[in-house]
Amino acid sequence: MNILILGGGGREHALAWAVKQNPKCDRLIVAPGNAGIAAIAECADIDILSGTTVVTFVEENAIDFVIVGPEAPLAAGVADALRAAGVLTFGPSAAAARLEASKSFTKEICDASGAPTAGYARFTDKATAVDYVRRTGAPIVVKADGLAAGKGVVVAMTEDEALTALDDMFGGSFGAAGAEVVIEEFMEGEEASFFILCDGTDVLPVGTAQDHKRVGEGDTGPNTGGMGAYSPAPVLSDEIARRALEEIVKPTVAEMARRGTPFQGVLYAGLMIKDGAPRLVEYNVRFGDPECQVLMTRLGAQALDLMLACAEGRLAEAQVNWAADHALTVVMAAEGYPGAYRKGTAIRGLDALPEDSFHMAFHAGTAERDGAVVATGGRVLNVTARGASLREARERAYAMVDAIDWPEGFCRRDIGWRAL
Ligand code: AMP
Ligand code: GLY
Repeated sequence: MNILILGGGGREHALAWAVKQNPKCDRLIVAPGNAGIAAIAECADIDILSGTTVVTFVEENAIDFVIVGPEAPLAAGVADALRAAGVLTFGPSAAAARLEASKSFTKEICDASGAPTAGYARFTDKATAVDYVRRTGAPIVVKADGLAAGKGVVVAMTEDEALTALDDMFGGSFGAAGAEVVIEEFMEGEEASFFILCDGTDVLPVGTAQDHKRVGEGDTGPNTGGMGAYSPAPVLSDEIARRALEEIVKPTVAEMARRGTPFQGVLYAGLMIKDGAPRLVEYNVRFGDPECQVLMTRLGAQALDLMLACAEGRLAEAQVNWAADHALTVVMAAEGYPGAYRKGTAIRGLDALPEDSFHMAFHAGTAERDGAVVATGGRVLNVTARGASLREARERAYAMVDAIDWPEGFCRRDIGWRAL
């Protein structure tokens, strides 16, 4: 079959790498793709936020299946446009993507389905929100309601920080995303991510992971999109995963179906685990980036069969063939990230890296210029390895990192520390 993947980061490189290994895949196009993806698939520079453009492209190229990587096209209704045109699609409708696009919507669904999560209040008016923070005190969590590229959440350890966050959000720093603010109870515990395919009715867990959000070693410094990840996440034991599925995920999926907006795609549940009980921090409606890289490394070619079963409503009969393996990915970023960073610096040594089912350097933000690979983003490479143990996966990943010649890049040297 002919397959189109939308997106151009490390997540989409990992999806393409897994899909490409499946004999069902004849032709693979990734839009827009990147320099690493171009080595294994065709890349097409089209506007992936326009449903009309994507549908036209699909018709012109006889595409049989579309996999939507990032949240922006989902929130923009691209999956709706594709399904309306009769195209088999992996990814939720815009209505179901509200589970990521609106924090207050997610809270409403948690209330309706009884899913455990932090207590909260919603505000559209600054004075009332300030009054609430003064009465409640810190620590407290302040969130812009809408999509804010991961920057709309302030975990305030002091009342002053919370009040500054309210100034920013109601002051328009996040545009329309900050017109409504959700203030939450601060939850203690250990965070982990749980990925579940949902076909609207049935659910199938496809792995757990833990990422490293802070830029610096020992989880210090500013927040990033993620500096590394590993799977499985030992803190998400079978019993906790079972509880999360029964108490959080299944009730959510049932409530979405009851509302006439069934969720079809991958649900990424961010969980806070304390005293053996999971609570929901947030949902995303797509694979995590870089969590997808470790999940795909472990799932391999079967990922395509699972996503097809999901899109065709056949999850009840699908199953994952797990190996007793571990995967770990190290993000290499451009110096300065998550602040201002240089673009266009050359990366050498990539050609000499091993590329097999145990080793893969996924590209997140690269382009090819005059035959050389150059960095084009903040997070640039996701150096990923698999092993029989997490330690082995980690040794393999860092051996690859050490073989990459990129003086303007950096990475954390402690990915996996919590689990090791
Ligand atoms: P979110 O974008 O909702 O995942 O929030 C970003 C990060 O903020 C999460 O990964 C948590 O580390 C933290 N966070 C969000 N909500 C809470 C909460 N209620 N209590 C503690 N930490 C939180
Ligand atoms: N790594 C976090 C995310 O994809 O949202």
